[in-house]
Amino acid sequence: MPRKIILDCDPGHDDAIAMLLAHGSPAIELLAVTTVAGNQTLDKVTRNALAVAEIANIRVPIAAGCDRPLVREREIAPSIHGDSGMDGPLLAEPTRLVEPCHAVDLIIELLMNHPPGSITLVPTGALTNIALAVRKEPRIASRVREVVLMGGGYHTGNWSAVAEFNIKIDPEAAHIVFNTPWPLTMVGLDLTHQALATPQVLARIAALDTSPARFVQELLLFFGESYRREQGFECPPVHDPCAVAYVIDPQVMTVRKAPLNVELTGTLTLGMTVADFRSPAAADCLTQVAVQLDHGYFWQMVEDALRRIGEGGR
Ligand code: BDR
Ligand code: CA
Repeated sequence: MPRKIILDCDPGHDDAIAMLLAHGSPAIELLAVTTVAGNQTLDKVTRNALAVAEIANIRVPIAAGCDRPLVREREIAPSIHGDSGMDGPLLAEPTRLVEPCHAVDLIIELLMNHPPGSITLVPTGALTNIALAVRKEPRIASRVREVVLMGGGYHTGNWSAVAEFNIKIDPEAAHIVFNTPWPLTMVGLDLTHQALATPQVLARIAALDTSPARFVQELLLFFGESYRREQGFECPPVHDPCAVAYVIDPQVMTVRKAPLNVELTGTLTLGMTVADFRSPAAADCLTQVAVQLDHGYFWQMVEDALRRIGEGGR
């Protein structure tokens, strides 16, 4: 049985690849894509999600969600993702339309109308929509199968010395999500910094020679340049598809159970995700962090998904 997921994202170069990986994998049934302000403004990331859907012929509902964090001023990341939020490939204006409902309502509706334990939430942006959904309809907490999110890091940050972008821009939302009693896997920077798009990876994607693969190549070239310039990486870490990969097959990475929380009051550490590794986690600990990636297997998943997508249809 394929795993049903809702991908809540802010495309975003790596979010776009997460969409393609989910769509192209038979182990996943993508129920909906929901968007949230983050890498760029809500209208830009939503347009990007629609454009990705068009490139790969993804026919699931796409709904726009929150256009700003719960409490703080909006922060976006043009230094990494450019003015459009997905600079690099030239995209035609999407012809598909966004759903007429709010992402938060779509998330709630899907969870309330599917059997409990059947839907996994995969957030790869700020956690605003997910936090608001569980506040609006608390019963979803016990209906979600698990939350597998890209965000945070237990050793490092990228938007401050210790905080990762998705968590840092809406730490209150992250605090709600990390403290809701549902199984939660944090696929943070400790893991995603291993998901490097090396020249060998780029060559394998190029060899597929399809338009979705060329799109990914163009995304990775722009993303690579941003990461070289802004963060001193030789090859870009492709964060968001790692969360999808874990849902496809948890064997792609090792994980470690640990109590997790988000710093809300630190002056230097706002948005830091704190994992408590002092002793073995209690049996009822619901949170875990991703530790070690099987790099070859991960990129094989991406390549296989693109091969299945072919020129667009599945
Ligand atoms: C995360 O921040 C965004 O820029 C990326 O899309 C990813 O979700 C990495 O810190
Ligand atoms: Ca993202």
